[in-house]
Amino acid sequence: MKIEEIYNLIAPDMEQVNACIQRRLHSDVVLINQVGTYIINSGGKRLRPVIHLLSARAFNQECSQHIDLAAIIEFIHTATLLHDDVVDGSDLRRGESTANNLWGNEASVLVGDFLYSRSFQMMVEIGSMRVMEILADATNTIAEGEVQQLLNCHDPDTTEARYLEVIHNKTAKLFEAASRLGAVITNRGQAEEAAMTAYGMHLGCAFQLIDDVLDYTSDSENTGKNIGDDLAEGKPTLPLIHAMQNGTPEQAKIIRIAIEEDGLENIAQIIETIESTGAIDYTARCAQVEAEKAIEALEIIPASDYKDALIALAHFAVNRKY
Ligand code: IPE
Ligand code: IPE
Ligand code: MG
Ligand code: MG
Ligand code: MG
Repeated sequence: MKIEEIYNLIAPDMEQVNACIQRRLHSDVVLINQVGTYIINSGGKRLRPVIHLLSARAFNQECSQHIDLAAIIEFIHTATLLHDDVVDGSDLRRGESTANNLWGNEASVLVGDFLYSRSFQMMVEIGSMRVMEILADATNTIAEGEVQQLLNCHDPDTTEARYLEVIHNKTAKLFEAASRLGAVITNRGQAEEAAMTAYGMHLGCAFQLIDDVLDYTSDSENTGKNIGDDLAEGKPTLPLIHAMQNGTPEQAKIIRIAIEEDGLENIAQIIETIESTGAIDYTARCAQVEAEKAIEALEIIPASDYKDALIALAHFAVNRKY
């Protein structure tokens, strides 16, 4: 199944989600509308709402909350991006200037807070403590993941285990909430909820592993982001960790210095090293393993086009170029 077919499958739902997003973005404060509209309409993939809609639909139950929840999840994602671009000092997202580049860090952080708190207002309207719990825990874990990553920055001794914990927390947790909530709002039993939880968690890990590969192997035409941002910030992502372990002492030293001192200076040589040591292949293989686990988790879910789409999304997470 191609990515376009996945979107087609839930197109009517997605139309409603987008309408809900536009409606709930509104504030009487002009700057909030400007920044909010700018980022939300700048062409994100809407993957997390797609995952939530497919997960809810896969259980073939009547439900009315999936539209609002998909919008809530995209608001949370968008808030994290506004904050993330400030923290990462990024100036390009979705092929356009970042909000922080256009309006400054202050506006980005504050509008991010607006989106977070709007998402919580919307959750209260849903009126389910289970939903509240899952999303409150997810946002809290995302914040922890971003802080853990901050602590790893400029530390070349960051282990693979510490890296994996960061990506689990900062990225996979929201994917996990998106798919898990599909089972929760359709009143599925424990086994099905656990299956959807595992699916989202593994999918999210695969997604971030590939994001970290693309930061070295792609270009801004494809990703809409500046390549090399991770190295510029001294982020010890898996391609670098693996290359240091498997390169010559000389190669490892160049990477260490780059992580310690913000080094884009030797980026060409570092890219050469992560390729020749197999670090890119290794990271992509880890993503592949995660995607396979995601698909495996779906085994107990009844067959349907929606399930097929969830499987196809796991393949997309690994093979994507953007
Ligand atoms: C970007 O997520 C942040 C990461 C977790 C890597 P997406 O790649 O889903 O961002 P958009 O919404 O499609 O721009
Ligand atoms: C994902 O990490 C950030 C969040 C989960 C908020 P990145 O910092 O790698 O995301 P991009 O590459 O800027 O989209
Ligand atoms: Mg970033
Ligand atoms: Mg970041
Ligand atoms: Mg990235």
